Amino acid sequence: MNIICRIFLPLLLTILLSACGAPESTPTNAVAIPDYADPGIIAKGLDYEIYRDSVEPIFLRHRGGFVGSDTSCVACHTSQANAPLGLQPLTEENRSVFWTEEQSRQNFENVAKLVNPANPELSRLLLAPLAPAAGGERHSGGIFWNSTEHSEYQVVAGWIATGNPEIGADPVADLDFEFFRSCVQPVFVNPIDNAMPCTECHGGEFATPPPEGSYWTEAQSRQSFEDLLYLIDPGRPESSRFLHKPLHPEAGGDLMHNGGRRWFSADDPERLALSDWVRGEAAGDQCPPALQFDYPPRL
Ligand code: HEC
Ligand code: HEC
Repeated sequence: MNIICRIFLPLLLTILLSACGAPESTPTNAVAIPDYADPGIIAKGLDYEIYRDSVEPIFLRHRGGFVGSDTSCVACHTSQANAPLGLQPLTEENRSVFWTEEQSRQNFENVAKLVNPANPELSRLLLAPLAPAAGGERHSGGIFWNSTEHSEYQVVAGWIATGNPEIGADPVADLDFEFFRSCVQPVFVNPIDNAMPCTECHGGEFATPPPEGSYWTEAQSRQSFEDLLYLIDPGRPESSRFLHKPLHPEAGGDLMHNGGRRWFSADDPERLALSDWVRGEAAGDQCPPALQFDYPPRL
């Protein structure tokens, strides 16, 4: 989806801008608008109107602050910010911000990927904002609902129930721990020229340094793996912050990373090899050439 946005949005803008620059030009039909009346395109049979009128406002709701669960979902979850959900950047017009009908349709398609009509309470969309104590999952965005009784939880659950109960969750890619331990983790201590290793700044998180002169213990690797998973959208390398932050902005990476850049092209062989893993397609301890390091020493 991000790729589509990256390619088509600039194209669309170019068309719009050139149309504005030349008011007398005739309208162009170059951009095909999907036929949303086609029932085949309604994601998982979910009700679009309920989505637009009741669910989408939840993403937009201002929560009084600027950090964690005091912010609106959209503050973190636009397709640009590379957190799952892939909401469209808001349109600003006459001092108000909103999603156009077209954008809401796009949001609907993206959000539908995170729901499971066959098993509504197992929907990622319901589990992330819910407190772990109430059965939710750890969420970098924080806790928004203390219990399943929360009115927003109820609204979202009600919407998911409109979906086709035969249709379940989109499969979530399984990331292999062995491959992480053998092939991914050494990336954090093998900097490129003139750069600092990731361990220097992310040592307390996913990039724990190895014990001096030896390899990470299994437990250390396990902890780093768990921490790194929160920076990954399994199956979707384009929306995984792990692959986005260290990529140069001119190659489509994040506009800001205090740690500098490791990849200057999206097709950097190391990044491609890591993408295979994020897609769930790399497993085991046999590392591809781009991920072979001598340091730290293996026992
Ligand atoms: C402060 C930033 C922030 C806010 C605010 C935020 N999120 Fe998130 N959210 C994230 C990040 C980062 C991730 C990816 C890592 C993770 O799963 O914690 C994420 C992950 C998710 C996921 C995917 C979980 C999974 O299964 O992988 C869902 C669904 C989600 N958020 C929904 C929401 C909703 C709904 C709201 C508003 C009620 C919200 N988020 C508010 C940052 C935020
Ligand atoms: C000089 C310190 C420094 C180094 C070295 C560094 N980073 Fe960072 N990184 C930061 C800081 C500070 C942030 C948070 C602010 C920002 O996004 O720039 C960050 C943010 C991130 C994030 C987003 C984290 C989140 O919670 O959203 C990722 C992913 C990341 N870095 C990956 C890496 C990787 C991979 C490496 C090694 C190749 C690396 N960084 C090296 C300082 C560093």
